[in-house]
Amino acid sequence: MAEPNDPILLFDTGVGGLTVYDALRDILPDAPVIYAADYAGIPYGQKTEAEVGARVAGLLGRMAERYQPRLACIACNTASTIALGMVREVLEIPIVGTVPAIKPAASLTKTGTIALVGTKATIRQAYVDDLEAQFASGKNLLRIAAPELVDIAEAKLRGHAIDDTAIRALAEALRGTPDGETIDTLVLACTHFPLLSDEFALAFGPDVNLVDGAQGIARRIAALLEGQRFDPGERSRFVVTGPADRAAGLERALSARGLGVAQSFTNP
Ligand code: DGL
Repeated sequence: MAEPNDPILLFDTGVGGLTVYDALRDILPDAPVIYAADYAGIPYGQKTEAEVGARVAGLLGRMAERYQPRLACIACNTASTIALGMVREVLEIPIVGTVPAIKPAASLTKTGTIALVGTKATIRQAYVDDLEAQFASGKNLLRIAAPELVDIAEAKLRGHAIDDTAIRALAEALRGTPDGETIDTLVLACTHFPLLSDEFALAFGPDVNLVDGAQGIARRIAALLEGQRFDPGERSRFVVTGPADRAAGLERALSARGLGVAQSFTNP
């Protein structure tokens, strides 16, 4: 049984997983969390499957050793769709993944046309093919990569003014594909993207539902930890791979979430 001060480990390449952190905070306000951002490895979306798999399994193994978490959540669609199985083999604690929210999207769509926007690596995964076959057969799932939005989401959370040209161009590109005009549901299949939900809503208009997995993942974590106790005095922390100044500009976002000052996990 976990001790009350054992943390939950949330892992992403950057701030995308904070969308899961925020949803988790609503359900488990007292849970101590170690939020780990792999800034030395960002972006995963441009890496090969072998690179992501080795990196995620290795890093999570070392982090689990250091922080002794009661549960780890890979709050990154790219890492989860590639490495979830591998990580589950390596670690003995429960591992929760973040996979594209195709199932809820399929039950929401009225037109049957769903768009899925993720990183380059995510949209080509067999994991996504399987989700599509399982939950969206008979629907039309249009996949598109938007790796440039990861940096834009990082900039937004640092309080920088952002340019919405890339999101508008994405909306236009999707509408220009066959059946694009009938898209009524958009899966934000990268944890960074809900940070841009206002911009997505403006670019796609009020008739398109935006769907992401953050709430569902938070509920899954809470269900797995049901009955466990949390020490409200145990502080949550934000750690980064590489130098801590990779988190420069995030001070407000971190302190608003009770995550303190960024610390360096290591310098890989
Ligand atoms: N946040 C990550 C995801 O959910 C991707 C960012 C990256 O490319 O590193 O896919």
